Amino acid sequence: MEVTFTTPTGTTYSLFNDMLKQSHLLIAGASGSGKSVLVNGLICTALYSHPFDKAGGKQLILIDPKRTELSPYKRVPHCLRYASEPNTMVDALHYALGIVEQRYRVMEAQGLRKYNGSDVYVIIEELADLMTTQKRTVQPLIQRLCQIARAARVHLWAITQCPLATIITTPIKVNFDGIVALRTRCAQDSRNIIGVKGAEVLPRYGDCLYLTPDKTEVERWKVPYITEAEQSEMIRWWVAQLPTRQPLPTPPFPTPPRRGFFKRLFGR
Ligand SMILES: Nc1ncnc2c1ncn2[C@@H]1O[C@H](COP(=O)(O)OP(=O)(O)O)[C@@H](O)[C@H]1O
Ligand SMILES: [Mg+2]
Repeated sequence: MEVTFTTPTGTTYSLFNDMLKQSHLLIAGASGSGKSVLVNGLICTALYSHPFDKAGGKQLILIDPKRTELSPYKRVPHCLRYASEPNTMVDALHYALGIVEQRYRVMEAQGLRKYNGSDVYVIIEELADLMTTQKRTVQPLIQRLCQIARAARVHLWAITQCPLATIITTPIKVNFDGIVALRTRCAQDSRNIIGVKGAEVLPRYGDCLYLTPDKTEVERWKVPYITEAEQSEMIRWWVAQLPTRQPLPTPPFPTPPRRGFFKRLFGR
């Protein structure tokens, strides 16, 4: 399912794989702009060619306030947590931090600077829902997760159709290295996401502006389209790999993680 493009300079380039390599992704655009198609493409690319339980595997923690977008993935063996209730969504963020803490312990014990194991993608499908109802809890959690999770191979994707400065706040935005703007309703929304106008004049349906730290300017891409049928087929295949699905694992570590641990490591 690797989709490659040819950039104007002639080098082969795969949009999904480039996005999967970023530490954290912010994806924003108006309703109907193609966010779900992009996220599905990314998840399918991650799952398609990767196991869930071995080094090099991919795992998912899904936070889905709308209860529709990500729910098809809750049965794949890669899924560690699926949360759609207000309380469980915050728990899922703590759970992700717990994984980071556990991985730092392993790294500390083995003298590693980067965790050697699966990538965990923490996907928030609609950041606005969390930020409007539980900003005081959620904003510091997201900040902390973004700041420390990179070396632990834990990645956060925040998706929103509401790119206001009150949702994508500066403390949140500075932590994202991969930023994607699909079509926005107005130039100000575009500026809030990628710092420049332009996303407001994109065609709908999957055209995007993509910015990462290693790019000197915003790049424009067409997001490859993965159909619902392809998505369902892949999910069915993965679900069938585990005929007797184990119950979701309970966290083997305390939630929330102890603050002192991070203080010792990072001095914050
Ligand atoms: N990359 C794409 N290529 C072709 N069609 C697309 C693409 N992205 C979105 N679309 C079309 O636009 C519709 C809305 O996209 P969707 O991802 O559901 O938007 P959003 O999640 O931003 O509201 C899709 O059902 C699909 O028909
Ligand atoms: Mg959507």
